[in-house]
Amino acid sequence: MTKEWNPSTWINKEIKQQPIYPDLNKLKEAEDILGKYPPLVFAGEVRNLKTKLADATEGKSFLLQGGDCAESFAEFSADNIRDTFKVILQMAVILTFSGGCPIVKVGRIAGQFAKPRSSDNETVGDITLPSYRGDIINDIAFTKEARTPDPQRMIKAYNQSAATHNLLRAFARGGLADLHQINKWNLGFIKNNNLDNRYKILTDKITESLAFMDACGINSDNTPNIKQTVVYTSHEALLLNYEKALTRKDSTSGDWYDCSAHMLWIGDRTRDVNGAHVEFLRGVKNPIGIKAGPTMDTIDLIKLCDILNPQNEAGRLNIIVRMGADKIGKHLPKLIKAVEKEGKKVLWSIDPMHGNTIKTSNNYKTRVFDNVLKEVERFFEIHASEGTYAGGVHLEMTGQNVTECIGGAGDITEESLCSRYNTHCDPRLNADQALEMAFSIADLLKKARM
Ligand code: PEP
Ligand code: CO
Repeated sequence: MTKEWNPSTWINKEIKQQPIYPDLNKLKEAEDILGKYPPLVFAGEVRNLKTKLADATEGKSFLLQGGDCAESFAEFSADNIRDTFKVILQMAVILTFSGGCPIVKVGRIAGQFAKPRSSDNETVGDITLPSYRGDIINDIAFTKEARTPDPQRMIKAYNQSAATHNLLRAFARGGLADLHQINKWNLGFIKNNNLDNRYKILTDKITESLAFMDACGINSDNTPNIKQTVVYTSHEALLLNYEKALTRKDSTSGDWYDCSAHMLWIGDRTRDVNGAHVEFLRGVKNPIGIKAGPTMDTIDLIKLCDILNPQNEAGRLNIIVRMGADKIGKHLPKLIKAVEKEGKKVLWSIDPMHGNTIKTSNNYKTRVFDNVLKEVERFFEIHASEGTYAGGVHLEMTGQNVTECIGGAGDITEESLCSRYNTHCDPRLNADQALEMAFSIADLLKKARM
């Protein structure tokens, strides 16, 4: 028998990684305002994504999920959204064309604000303040005022997310996503390198194919898929006050949906089977991701499948593996074996970012491109030997020309990290590194499908 659920039942469970709001009346006020605002996504769209993820679970398509580690109020601009959209589109086209497989595109965008932290407090000199937990909660500046959690920030995050959703929908349907525009998607920071050539060869082939199809009478006017796409949204469902306030009962099905994003995931630090985050997410019908770090054991993973997906529906659960390049070989095979043995339907994807974070001697949090790629390669190898599908990838990346991860086509060094290190939280692949990654994944995908 399943226990009763409503958007507030998590309140009776143990909860991790939450801010301490100094004024609970102000928190309630903000929740009430959000509760009356329109949903950011619609149940029908969420169901469409679930169907597409069910295909990816069965190896018929591949999930590309990516975007900022943390969105910020300061970097909110149409150009930033456009560039993230473009890099997702470019990667998707590389994966579709070279990897030979439909791609489900999901941004870490339009709500990816709240961050789990390794410590509740941060100390600088002799001053200790609450840690920065993302712009939806407090401000990154190291002052008492800035670090005090403010519930009004949830309203600001909602408004930014609404404007972001609006622009993403416009880009997806209003012409920018038309395959005839493929040459205009290029963010091209590095000129005349191997990557540029590889991308040009691909776009030339696509342009040629479109001209051929056009001559045969297949064009953007009679075939909408050529000129439009769908980019779904996702974020970590960490700040449950915000998620609860945006949860709505769908009038057609009578089911609950968290209408803050199409897909939500549970972080590696908050996936406790008895905790508040699992309790909240079991009741909404959205596709759910579960981050699985090296401490995930088979018993908990199967319990999570039972609690979050009691009907064993394909498309509902996505296990996002984030072990680290040197640990994935030890931990992933036993998880796959357990899931297979129990007959659980899950989509396996790889987050090669969070298990490969290091600190440089000058204190920059970074990731080495080759280690990120190594974890992706190991992920594909392990699935090949288990006879299961490597179904997706989950990346922290940006369309901007930042210097946050070491290596890749632009050959970013430890010394050059400081020149454009802009992230509010973890280091992201820049646009060139993201494209290079897409070409490597396309090769792995092609091999896996042969
Ligand atoms: C994240 O995806 O930004 C994150 C914090 O991941 P994890 O929960 O896997 O550490
Ligand atoms: Co991160």
